[in-house]
Amino acid sequence: METEDNIIFSLAPMQGYTDYVYRNAINKYIGGIDKYYTPYLRLQNDGTLKNKDIKDVLPENNKLIKVIPQILTNNAADTIYLCNYLNELGYNEVNINLGCPYPMVAKRNLGSGLLEHPEQVRKMLEETFKKVSVDISVKLRLGYNTHKEILDIIPILNELPVSEIILHPRIGKDLYKNEARYEHFKAVQDISAKKLSYNGDIENLSRYINLRSMLGNVSHFMIGRGILKNPFLVHDLKNNISENESIKREKLQSFHSDIFDNYSTQLSGDSHLVNKISLIWEYLSYMFNNQNKIYKRIKKIKKASEMSHICNEIIANEELYAG
Ligand SMILES: Cc1cc2nc3c(=O)[nH]c(=O)nc-3n(C[C@H](O)[C@H](O)[C@H](O)COP(=O)(O)O)c2cc1C
Repeated sequence: METEDNIIFSLAPMQGYTDYVYRNAINKYIGGIDKYYTPYLRLQNDGTLKNKDIKDVLPENNKLIKVIPQILTNNAADTIYLCNYLNELGYNEVNINLGCPYPMVAKRNLGSGLLEHPEQVRKMLEETFKKVSVDISVKLRLGYNTHKEILDIIPILNELPVSEIILHPRIGKDLYKNEARYEHFKAVQDISAKKLSYNGDIENLSRYINLRSMLGNVSHFMIGRGILKNPFLVHDLKNNISENESIKREKLQSFHSDIFDNYSTQLSGDSHLVNKISLIWEYLSYMFNNQNKIYKRIKKIKKASEMSHICNEIIANEELYAG
């Protein structure tokens, strides 16, 4: 089993949440996270990237953190184009999304939908590796329809110079329902010749400790919703203890003000800003005992000035969830 010192924690890619504003703020005010994956970049029908995606990977917006851009593709041409684009920006690793479960994506043979088509995965990756010099890691689920799909994918990845496999042990059709399928993660450990990293449902110290003993040789844990709910989670996992309460409030206040100020300069009009902050509180409200009540209160807010005032008051006064 890896020693604790060798364990790496990363922030999972999450569309709509973990953009560069969020990544920089959590790094500056809270810390602990070793590397950050961007939400997926995808070429539009006209072959270009959205401006918001271009901005998200600009080196000047990611100076202080280790960032791995993620792409959502299903053919070699797009993958080669995006890998080379990102390599020119200075990135030396690109992560390919073979896990997105949403039917709109999966139906187009993208994300976890591509797992039903192992030969398409092989062709895309084989051609890509001939033309790019960045490291390529893959983030995937067990399959789209069944957990057996991965059994045809892993041998393909084993044969190619894939640098790492990050597995979220659910199938696409699960979306986020039920428990992650730990026993299937273990089965993949037995057949993978690559570095296999774990992602899914790590929300507290006891779950992490269980997973560590159950999964043994995993040296990279990727965490998504657990960090959105508790930005101190990695700090707590690394230190085996929860951050002191007054320090927590202070840091949370600075983190929140930072994202609030950044989004207020980026987003035009109160309603966009208010919607964005309320999206963040859908998860951040879990920092507090009265999660439900707090989130309902936030959702009712219409004005940015009121949003800022109420959020600050919540952070200063509401009882923190002790886990
Ligand atoms: C709102 C949301 C957006 C997500 N966006 C992405 C994405 O862009 N790329 C990706 O690979 N996974 C995406 N995911 C999946 C997460 O990266 C992660 O695999 C999943 O949430 C399970 O990990 P967790 O239990 O630690 O959250 C998203 C998940 C959520 C909830």
